[in-house]
Amino acid sequence: MDNQLEKPQQITFDITDRCQMKCVTCNKWKISAGDVINKELTTEEWKKVLVQLRDWLGEGFWFCFSGGEPFLRKDIFELADYADSLGIKVASMSNAFSIQNLYEKIVDSPIQSLNISLNAISNPLIHDTSRGREGSYEKALDSILTLKKLRDEKKSKLGINIATILFPENIEESIPLVEFVTRNKINGIMFQLLDDAESFQAYSVRSSSQTSTYVMPKELRLKYKSMAKRAIEVINRLIEMKQAGHSIYNSFEQLEAMKIFFNNPDDILRTINCDVGSTNYAIDPYGDVRLCFNMDPVGNIKENTPEEIWLNQKSAECRQLTKSCKMYCRMLNCNFKHNFANFNKSFLQRCKNKIGKILCGIK
Ligand SMILES: C[S@@+](CC[C@H](N)C(=O)[O-])C[C@H]1O[C@@H](n2cnc3c(N)ncnc32)[C@H](O)[C@@H]1O
Ligand code: SF4
Ligand code: SF4
Repeated sequence: MDNQLEKPQQITFDITDRCQMKCVTCNKWKISAGDVINKELTTEEWKKVLVQLRDWLGEGFWFCFSGGEPFLRKDIFELADYADSLGIKVASMSNAFSIQNLYEKIVDSPIQSLNISLNAISNPLIHDTSRGREGSYEKALDSILTLKKLRDEKKSKLGINIATILFPENIEESIPLVEFVTRNKINGIMFQLLDDAESFQAYSVRSSSQTSTYVMPKELRLKYKSMAKRAIEVINRLIEMKQAGHSIYNSFEQLEAMKIFFNNPDDILRTINCDVGSTNYAIDPYGDVRLCFNMDPVGNIKENTPEEIWLNQKSAECRQLTKSCKMYCRMLNCNFKHNFANFNKSFLQRCKNKIGKILCGIK
């Protein structure tokens, strides 16, 4: 067993694969809800997991409901209340398409951080097209503004954040999105690098990826190339805005890494190790646990406790596999370790060479 191994820091409950959107970046919605709904963990099974996690990790840790669309689970508030009663802090993601009749409930619930996905602010069509459903922009915007108003009126603890994927069609939206966040006193915004849609499969149909021989699809590589020049300019501006106090959650290190990535995606594979094996713990709707969402499950929560799974042989093997991984999802917010310890020496050396100096702004 690895003596250096600590407890996980990034815990996700992907409570359902089901989703009502048709995002072009994600394949989760392609499954049939009827095929999976009866296979999902029950409320009682999730509650048992919460108790086991609290016994292992102690009070005060955070976990995030995600999916699929987590608010399609009717028991999400019951689970949030239960987690709160155990001293566990609750966050959630949402596409905000079907939460309009839940605003009061959300604000009154113990959810302390709600990340609403929004890919554009000045051009609704960009958001709606990316999400595959007309009217999704209007609903996401209404959710952000109404929840903010209610939160302020009720002095609730709810933090409201925006999650934005960066892709060629919305790159000009990034700065206006940050300005919108600041103008409307939204808690913050996080930018997500576009990843291969193949990585965003429903768990019910997911097969593990060949992470050590992965090759980025040509189409995705061309997409990155087409936006690279402008993306680097925009990220430079985001760095300035963050320095000036705008609430951009991505660390400076991650923003710098994004520039390296856009300059040449392959550089990231040489310079950034992926730490998910020792930080992440994601439980899927059927109880399977993954440290890396592209690899095989390392156990099932119905058969073993969270701690037993974390310390088992499969988890050790998964950690080993992360070392030879050739995938780019190490750049995603949930996988990127937010400090310089993540950058190995060659990254720092690159910063001293010509390209690194330009990208990192080193004189
Ligand atoms: C898989 S969704 C689950 C939560 C919820 N359904 C939502 O969309 O907010 C979590 C996040 O992944 C983002 N996402 C979807 N496809 C992506 C891709 N190909 N690359 C990077 N992020 C992606 C979504 O925009 C969302 O912010
Ligand atoms: S990104 Fe979220 S909203 Fe879009 S299809 Fe995937 S799970 Fe659904
Ligand atoms: S980069 Fe990290 S999260 Fe992505 S497949 Fe490799 S080990 Fe898994």
